[in-house]
Amino acid sequence: MISQEAIRRFGQLSTPFYYYDVELLSKTLLEYTTLINKYGYNAHYAVKANAEPRILQIIQEAGLGADCVSGNEVKLAVESGFNPSKIVYAGVGKSDKEIKTALEAGIFSFNCESIPEIQVINDLAAGMGTCARISLRVNPNIDAHTHQYISTGRKEDKFGISPWEFEAVAELLKKLSSVELIGLHFHIGSQITDMSVFPLLCRMVEDLQKWFIDKGIEIKNLNLGGGLGIDYDNPLQHPIPQFKEYFELIHKNLIVRPEQKVHFEPGRSIVGQCGSLISRVLYVKIGREKKFVILDAGMNDLIRPALYQATHKIENLTSSGEQYLYDVVGPVCESSDKFAHDVYLPETKRGDLVALYSAGAYGQVMAMKYNQKDIAKAYYSDELPDK
Ligand code: LLP
Repeated sequence: MISQEAIRRFGQLSTPFYYYDVELLSKTLLEYTTLINKYGYNAHYAVKANAEPRILQIIQEAGLGADCVSGNEVKLAVESGFNPSKIVYAGVGKSDKEIKTALEAGIFSFNCESIPEIQVINDLAAGMGTCARISLRVNPNIDAHTHQYISTGRKEDKFGISPWEFEAVAELLKKLSSVELIGLHFHIGSQITDMSVFPLLCRMVEDLQKWFIDKGIEIKNLNLGGGLGIDYDNPLQHPIPQFKEYFELIHKNLIVRPEQKVHFEPGRSIVGQCGSLISRVLYVKIGREKKFVILDAGMNDLIRPALYQATHKIENLTSSGEQYLYDVVGPVCESSDKFAHDVYLPETKRGDLVALYSAGAYGQVMAMKYNQKDIAKAYYSDELPDK
């Protein structure tokens, strides 16, 4: 919910911009950390979801570690105060330079996605006179029932090491002296709303870790990744995701051995609902068949609708009155630059301010300069300028 006072101040700002509700972020973090403390779990925030300095600072201060997918994310996490002993690093294509960056930082774990990667990390670590802690990112062949572009745990997806490769991994690890296997990592997809997927994942984790334990290979850490979805349709009714149900399901279904630590990598569920993209209506175009609301924000600011057919709830913040059906589009020269198809909004006019909700995750961080548009700035609820 954006306050009337905030909307008044928006009027003086140039649009489009991202607006972050700091109070909601803190509340979300409090609920999350209370639960992970209750169960004794560890969390590493997925920096890729939103890497704004203030957001990172708030999350770091809440005590979370960081989950990174590039050397620059590792650097940023360290610079933002995340303790390297709480940084994990995944990704199918870690370059030598990136691996060295992470080795120098002394991160907690490389989440390895292929056999050749393990060999390269070993060789680079040996060259630097160090030993790298690694976990195997396992592809458990589970369908997370989400959009195909953000599904990562099916056998046809590029991520992770498949169970049929375990034998070769175990053989290789016997020969390598500059890597130490510390755990198994799983991340099967994002925006998962079918909660039945998580018990299934827990059962797979048990089956797969058994393979190692039976061979006498100790698995000290189980990392279940991120993926918990948020309510894009009703963000105002459900500003905080279903953390309680999620952790209850995990706790009930995951077999954790004594001395084992359990880790998570939440991204969207932490930052998704605290961010909105605020835009001004440039034109309302009344066609024969359709009415178009043309915003000054486009797919260059928020690419999720164009890339994943995602829907973000749209609200006209400054008009009320009779409702009409509109298509809401951006200014970019692409037909996919469309935020909504046939949505009801109050009669909308040039100059109205519009909010696109649930844009805190994979919004600003995926912005681009296509059409040479400016990159939208960020404003925070407790730092809104008054002039
Ligand atoms: N861990 C790993 C290894 C990941 O690849 C991801 C996200 C996460 C954790 C965090 O997942 P989350 O809790 O946010 O679901 N741009 C897409 C989402 C891409 C997700 C990539 N990986 C979107 O806008 O929907």
